[in-house]
Amino acid sequence: MGGEVSDKDRFAFGRNWQRFLEVLDDNRTRIAEESIKDMLGGDTLAGRTFLDVGSGSGLFSLAAKRLGARVHSFDYDSQSVACTRELKRRYLPEDIEWQIERGSVLDAEYMRSLGRFDVVYAWGVLHHSGDMWRALDNVAPSVAEGGKLFISIYNDQGRASRRWAFIKRLYNRLPRPFGFPLEVYTLIRQWSLTFVRDLFKGDPLGSWREYRRDRGMSPWRDIVDWVGGYPFEIAKPEEIFEFYHRRGFVLERLKTCAGGIGCNEFVFIRPVISDD
Ligand SMILES: C[S@@+](CC[C@H](N)C(=O)[O-])C[C@H]1O[C@@H](n2cnc3c(N)ncnc32)[C@H](O)[C@@H]1O
Repeated sequence: MGGEVSDKDRFAFGRNWQRFLEVLDDNRTRIAEESIKDMLGGDTLAGRTFLDVGSGSGLFSLAAKRLGARVHSFDYDSQSVACTRELKRRYLPEDIEWQIERGSVLDAEYMRSLGRFDVVYAWGVLHHSGDMWRALDNVAPSVAEGGKLFISIYNDQGRASRRWAFIKRLYNRLPRPFGFPLEVYTLIRQWSLTFVRDLFKGDPLGSWREYRRDRGMSPWRDIVDWVGGYPFEIAKPEEIFEFYHRRGFVLERLKTCAGGIGCNEFVFIRPVISDD
């Protein structure tokens, strides 16, 4: 199916997503809608088609549905597919304009079979596929003329990224309970400064509570997702820009993580080719 990395080296994203569903509430779904509106511009996706590549929990498919789009969601991980189906069952059980299935972005034939979409959304996915550059290539033809490609890709931090790649691989190879110290290590690396800063403001958990305001995700689930997230590839913003520029895409929006840990977000447009 195009998932060439062996399963023992692959993080079980779906298991993490199933836990996330337990804490999902209306506030988080609303925040997810805002994040899509913010990057794509405009208040609605009415009449648009939306391809959610690597739908994970299904939260952003649901957000796109609520903004009016016709949605096709797929994920390589069958537990992620089950999560997306569970979200549909909970919120939009009768909706026939939301298709969900298992598939891989590395499978070029499968991707072609889906046709073209007004929005192709692949947030935090292509760098976990096991062959990021092929995945970046495979999503390009799925974007309709005048359509948008919204992706996020891990920032290349040089040595720090290589260290994380080692930790992530180790985490996936360890029997489950032994991974917990690496989760705590990640919590400390990513949050200790913030906790201390917030402590001085008199609210040590302030940012932790605020975290979900960005994309509606839970901070602890994102920590597990981060330390486990393997395969893991990275790119500098300019490499992604050049890659799509050569394929005729125009960069519309860019949100970097300011050289730090995490993802750079890009919205590219495939220009309409006029006949004259
Ligand atoms: C970090 S999660 C992101 C999920 C979702 N897009 C979001 O923004 O919350 C990455 C997802 O990509 C999926 N994935 C990894 N390789 C894939 C592939 N080859 N094809 C489709 N999905 C893949 C994983 O199973 C996982 O659900």
